[in-house]
Amino acid sequence: MKKSVFFALIISFAILLSGCGSYSSGQNTDMDVQDEDKDLIVIGFSQVGAESDWRKANTESMLSTFTREKGYDLIYEDAQQKQQNQITAIRTFIQREVDYIVLAPVTEDGWDTVLGEAHDAGIPVIIVDRQVAVNDNDLFTCWVGSDFELEGRKACEWLRSYCDAHGIEQNDINIVDIQGTEGSSAQLGRTKGLNDAVRSNGWNLLDVRPGEYTQAKGREATAYLLQLHPDINVVYCENDNEAFGAIEAIEAAGKSVGTNIEAGQIMVLSFDGVSDLAVDYCKNGSISCIGECNPLHGPRVERIIENLEAGIVPEKFEYVDEAILSGDDTITNISLDGVTYSVELLER
Ligand code: AHR
Repeated sequence: MKKSVFFALIISFAILLSGCGSYSSGQNTDMDVQDEDKDLIVIGFSQVGAESDWRKANTESMLSTFTREKGYDLIYEDAQQKQQNQITAIRTFIQREVDYIVLAPVTEDGWDTVLGEAHDAGIPVIIVDRQVAVNDNDLFTCWVGSDFELEGRKACEWLRSYCDAHGIEQNDINIVDIQGTEGSSAQLGRTKGLNDAVRSNGWNLLDVRPGEYTQAKGREATAYLLQLHPDINVVYCENDNEAFGAIEAIEAAGKSVGTNIEAGQIMVLSFDGVSDLAVDYCKNGSISCIGECNPLHGPRVERIIENLEAGIVPEKFEYVDEAILSGDDTITNISLDGVTYSVELLER
């Protein structure tokens, strides 16, 4: 099945489920466990929310992996972007004596106390997607997710190479950063990737605004920045939903999006590459380059749990391989730290 069709299917399914703040794949959501449920592995999953297409695909990956038919009772809690809701969910999982806790943390900080409680209760905690910054890494069992800084560095290296190939002076790049949720690993990593590239390439970072990974905020932030800085020629959106909003704002301001910044177009860079719309925008040049962020963590977490059940200690940190996507064939590969990454060409 084509990747874009596959993602569209899982997003549709996730949208059906995204109305649920809480969901359990088992029949019992209270403390009374029926005999038939006794053999199920009970997993409490605290999800950030449903802010983006990526997040919906990630939720669906978890829900479709941890099914009752496969021997799991997944208790899913949507934290609606609030860390306090995640802390409450984890405390509820501890009270319910779940077998595993899976946490997709909204931000990196603020987890020491509650993860200490899970640790004291002897419940393994698997961190997924973003990371936690705790004083003692023994408070969680392992983490699996993306190298967000590398994603940012790849997108910036693509831009640097594109400019070189087209004879565009690096110091003619006037870029703005629409950031993701402040303090999340995805925001911290992608922002660092950009800031380092700004310094080393001599780009002009004109401004930075929060976009919170949503289309509405991406649109609002870009509209505001276009008024303030009429000479913007690159918008670095820290996810695709922000990019959708940025494109709307650019077009509403009477400008056009595309790679041809020499002719006055505004280039949009983005991350994820999950939804059909993002893939289509990349194919037609509305988004010039996407740093892929892979949301399909369900099977990865399942493998970790299978290993733990078998007494096998998982890797503490497991980074997922990710591609770099463009509809423009100027740059076929980029190199960072001696590693070459080929650019996946999305053809129309
Ligand atoms: O943590 C992963 C990021 O969170 C994705 O890039 C973004 O779309 C999501 O909301």
